[in-house]
Amino acid sequence: MNHTKPLEIVENIYFIGAFDPDIRTFDIIMKTANGSSYNAYLIKTSEGVIIVDTVKLEFQRDFFSKIEQLCSYDEIKYVLCHHLEPDHAGAIPELIKRAPQAKVLISPQATPMLKAITNNENIDFETVWTNKELKLGEKTIKFLTTPYLHWPETMSSYVVEDSLLFSGDVFGSHYYDSRLFDDLVGDFSYAFKYYYDHIMRPFKTYVLNALKLYDKLDIKMIATLHGPIIREKPYKYIELYRKWSLDRPDNISSNNKIISIFYLTSYKNTRDMAEAIFEGAESIKTIRASLYDLASIEEQNMINILEESDGILIGTPTINADAPKPVWDLLSCMMYLEKRGKTGQAFGSYGWSGEAVNMILDRMKSLHFRVPPIEPMKIRLIPNEDELEKCYNFGKEFAQIVNGKMIEIDMN
Ligand code: FEO
Repeated sequence: MNHTKPLEIVENIYFIGAFDPDIRTFDIIMKTANGSSYNAYLIKTSEGVIIVDTVKLEFQRDFFSKIEQLCSYDEIKYVLCHHLEPDHAGAIPELIKRAPQAKVLISPQATPMLKAITNNENIDFETVWTNKELKLGEKTIKFLTTPYLHWPETMSSYVVEDSLLFSGDVFGSHYYDSRLFDDLVGDFSYAFKYYYDHIMRPFKTYVLNALKLYDKLDIKMIATLHGPIIREKPYKYIELYRKWSLDRPDNISSNNKIISIFYLTSYKNTRDMAEAIFEGAESIKTIRASLYDLASIEEQNMINILEESDGILIGTPTINADAPKPVWDLLSCMMYLEKRGKTGQAFGSYGWSGEAVNMILDRMKSLHFRVPPIEPMKIRLIPNEDELEKCYNFGKEFAQIVNGKMIEIDMN
């Protein structure tokens, strides 16, 4: 496909987005080996034009050039913004200048963001949500409230006449391929999963809520904000999102709670504690506990294990009044997780002061883990028999809490 020409994706709906084949890191955290695209769309009707999302600021020339090939700015009646992250909102200020008569359509949660991103208090906008619809000429657009996918203000919409879902970032991939449609581009499956894992998985409860809305629709095409437009088997991708958002390890029944015990050890002391804690946790029938040595685990495996865990225990020695780097690496993976509902605690052997354990707890609290009010298990140097028994009891009590024992937890 020619990068400079708009492409009609269904009758009177055009791709007017921009391709970014050279980007290699997105949003600091994502690798983009295949580049990306900032998808935007234009809907033409006999009563005027709707612009659906915009592009990153650096790419606005392409975007405006494509609009100008399809209509004049005074034909634009609405600018529908599903998501105000700058990769999609970058051209809004200039678009509003060129089409000042256009009304911006956003979710209610986007109101303060629209002002902040445009630095313009005088934008004509209207808020929309599920059950509201817009009819313009031959097209009817139903709005769908799909927040936290992956910002609070995100939404989707559906063009009734074309069975077309504008999904926002949902079902996106950082995968540049100018052939654009899923049935024409190369194999983007790795990029689709990678995008889900990094962008949507921390919000999988909200993904499931969005799917409940999508399930009421007959969807023939998904026009996402990044990567291929999906038209061949849209339900294949919808079902992948459902599966990934519901996933549990195959060998563990849904009646079992999973406790993962990560530890780091220099002289085997913290490891001995971890093993006693493991025994205590395992003494509760419905608990499936596992031990992981942080010195030898790959990051992606850590993330997957953390995601599946109901309870997370982290054990570390204190070295130079701090936790060693692998512990911080583990804690930094938490940004990829849905933390709500996960219970956390910490333990470790120490020589002088043992600050590392409390540092872990502080981090867990700031991430909104449920941290039960039991004393973290800290033992000076080599644990003796009595101390190992305390570790066993600590593991058992933690497991009872993960299992549903009622306790008051201060989440602040
Ligand atoms: Fe593609 Fe969340 O911006």
